[in-house]
Amino acid sequence: MSKSDNYVKAGDNVVIYFTDKKKWLVRAKADEKLHTHLGYIELGSTIGKEYGSSVKTSLGERFWILKPTIIDLILKAERKTQIVYPKDLGMIASMTGISSGFTVVEAGTGSGVLTTFLANLVKPDGHVFSYEIRPEFIEMARKNIDRAGLSDFVTIKQSDAKKGFDEKDVDAVIIDVGDPWTLVRVAWEALKGGGVIASVSPTMNQVEKLVAELANVGFVKIESLELLLRNLEVRTGMTRPSMRMIGHTAYLTFARKIIMHEV
Ligand SMILES: C[S@@+](CC[C@H](N)C(=O)[O-])C[C@H]1O[C@@H](n2cnc3c(N)ncnc32)[C@H](O)[C@@H]1O
Repeated sequence: MSKSDNYVKAGDNVVIYFTDKKKWLVRAKADEKLHTHLGYIELGSTIGKEYGSSVKTSLGERFWILKPTIIDLILKAERKTQIVYPKDLGMIASMTGISSGFTVVEAGTGSGVLTTFLANLVKPDGHVFSYEIRPEFIEMARKNIDRAGLSDFVTIKQSDAKKGFDEKDVDAVIIDVGDPWTLVRVAWEALKGGGVIASVSPTMNQVEKLVAELANVGFVKIESLELLLRNLEVRTGMTRPSMRMIGHTAYLTFARKIIMHEV
């Protein structure tokens, strides 16, 4: 990224940061204000400033201007379904290797949180084709993806993924539905040889059925795992793990497509 990209442009998403508990994701727009209990700021005054610099509120408090990460954008998404949480998103990225230029098929758009994350990985040369059976979720997912500025890299299709995917020879298939084992065969048909499948499941019985079907249909390197994340409270001489943690989000399963040839 060049240094000139590090300045706020009109319409950019920006994080206005005071503390971890007091931060706002806003658009840098002339003629709009952000009102807080610490005074207001003119959002237009952020335009042209370098990220990392500050603005003062009407009451003289200093707020920092930060470029949002994909997680900042995702955590502000409107949601009507269970979503995939940041720790699991990170693991999906590293275990699948999804990166710029990949073609990815997703089943279960839901609120579009995972879709947004995947689109951010595949841009600018790749694409995410996301299937959602329930039309009422699609509009909200589109809004969330658009808000993150990633609509160009996503096509949402209203369809039951069990009927199959239109795309073929794709690099990865990502599944987040309640009955993932029902999509294993259609995922195999869409994937290129050696392509990767990943699935997100809240319960162990889903994982058992999924893994049995993966082995049956033609996948190897099948791995299921759960990530436990513990934050640290850092204070000099008193650093210790946080007393609270999220107990459970989801189990993740990964596998690679194989092609049976007689040799
Ligand atoms: C848990 S939500 C997905 C959440 C999403 N990953 C996110 O991070 O926002 C599961 C979604 O899968 C959709 N779904 C379930 N079965 C499906 C199928 N066979 N084909 C397409 N979508 C399906 C549901 O309607 C629901 O919106």
